[in-house]
Amino acid sequence: MTDQWWRDAVVYQIYPRSFADGNGDGMGDLPGITARLDALAELGIDAVWLSPFYVSPQADAGYDVADYRDIDPRFGSLADFDALAERAHALGLRVIVDLVPNHSSDEHGWFQQALAAGAGTPERGRYVFRDGKGDNGNEPPNNWQSLFGGAAWERSTDPDGTPGQWYLHLFDVKQPDFDWTNHEVREMFHDVLRFWLDRGVDGFRVDVAHALIKADGLPDAPESSVADPAPYEQEIESEAGDRGPMWDQDGVHEIYRDWNKILGEYPGDRMMVAEAWVSPPSRLARYVRPDEMQQSFNFDFLTARWNGPALRAVIDSSLRAVESVGAPATWVMSNHDVIRHASRLALPGDEARPGGIGADDPQPDAVLGLRRARAATALMLALPGSAYVYQGEELGLPEHTTLPDEAREDPTWERSGHTERGRDGCRVPIPWEADAPSLGFGNTSGTWLPQPAAYRTLARDQQRGDPSSMLEFYRRALRLRRELQLGKGRITWQETDPAILAIEIETAAGSVTVIVNLSDERLEVDDLAAGEVILHSAGPSADQRSLGSDEAVWVRR
Ligand code: NOJ
Repeated sequence: MTDQWWRDAVVYQIYPRSFADGNGDGMGDLPGITARLDALAELGIDAVWLSPFYVSPQADAGYDVADYRDIDPRFGSLADFDALAERAHALGLRVIVDLVPNHSSDEHGWFQQALAAGAGTPERGRYVFRDGKGDNGNEPPNNWQSLFGGAAWERSTDPDGTPGQWYLHLFDVKQPDFDWTNHEVREMFHDVLRFWLDRGVDGFRVDVAHALIKADGLPDAPESSVADPAPYEQEIESEAGDRGPMWDQDGVHEIYRDWNKILGEYPGDRMMVAEAWVSPPSRLARYVRPDEMQQSFNFDFLTARWNGPALRAVIDSSLRAVESVGAPATWVMSNHDVIRHASRLALPGDEARPGGIGADDPQPDAVLGLRRARAATALMLALPGSAYVYQGEELGLPEHTTLPDEAREDPTWERSGHTERGRDGCRVPIPWEADAPSLGFGNTSGTWLPQPAAYRTLARDQQRGDPSSMLEFYRRALRLRRELQLGKGRITWQETDPAILAIEIETAAGSVTVIVNLSDERLEVDDLAAGEVILHSAGPSADQRSLGSDEAVWVRR
């Protein structure tokens, strides 16, 4: 029997471009990460997940991989990766790497060979090439849209210079989709998994895990799934299967069963976490059946509205769905694809998740956002299962909502015809020291995206040791979560007003009630739970026995 460490692990997402710059070129790198790992061990997390650092032309910030078995020189070398993994393991941190199996870069050797080899060749069979429709094949093979905007098909040029077949790219034109019915593709990824497992990685985050298999014959998509392709905005719905022919096809599960067996050949409980924007939770639970992946990101939680009934419903349905297959729940509020939750939870309008915010847009309320972010953290870190923390959320970083448009690098901005600002605002290099160049991100002032003025006072060195800071709040919550084994708990809802969440969590180490006040009234803790307040989202100097709107407490019985 192994310990299945991932069941209640807190995993910290490192976005290598923006975590720490070791060589002063303005972009983060692996040596930069290694040098800063102590700060993460001190924070009290269990594992790090690194977004892609592989060889890549960076058309989609590294999610366009040209060589799955090597490091991009911008980020370092394989020796740097080994040093990072060794240091992380010495600090007791597991290492999860990103695997991008749905598509490669168009600069991957296989895609270049496919272009050169021409229609009908085995080289083309590794990607999704099709003849066009209409006169001379001038029209794309079907109506699918790229998630970054525009058609999901690009016409290739034959070696003799004439227009040729079209290839599928659900994302950028520089990210051709693999054909996962092809056995060479499957074998290549088996080798890639083994390559990184042999190097000692503890797990994989699997990019767009629900997209690898497309419906037979590539039928047109229903209008609903092509109409608004703003990234991560699509509702991919329904038990009945009307989810669009490119998403969540039953055939994907066979792939993950094969991978599960490969991971099982290695010691130490290696794991996989699916990035699958699949709903409802019962459908998502299929990815974490006992012989598939170990976890899937809970995006229903991330996208839930900030109100009592919505949060209660999503917590309940998430727990029910994973329990049905014996998997742990996961909880996540931010990542490199969405508006940082310290801003998202206090947007001025009614839109749940805009595809980016620009200087001309109505701006989020920073004070309200931070208050809600603290309460959301108290809620998330109390819940049973595993939690994901995105770099900088422990500092309370807001989204950079006033980036100059010329600085934007997310392909969404161009492909949407400048209608979607995209994801750069959550990817800005994070602040370490208020008085250092680039706020301590690197040893020079250049950063690949400019840092907003607001990041200065939020730098780690300004917060460290200040009990009222967000950083110390995370450290305290993570320490208590570990001591009280909250990740292993069982929950019971306390009956309250629908605008108040009160959840009792019982573990072998005790019983804690988390209370979140989503009402407009100030509440007295004694009216809701008896015991000692051990964590207050408003910090240790707030009145510990009462909580205002958008505040939360942990009460130990
Ligand atoms: C999901 C990743 O998180 C996102 O950043 C990327 O653009 C797409 N998948 C395509 O790989």
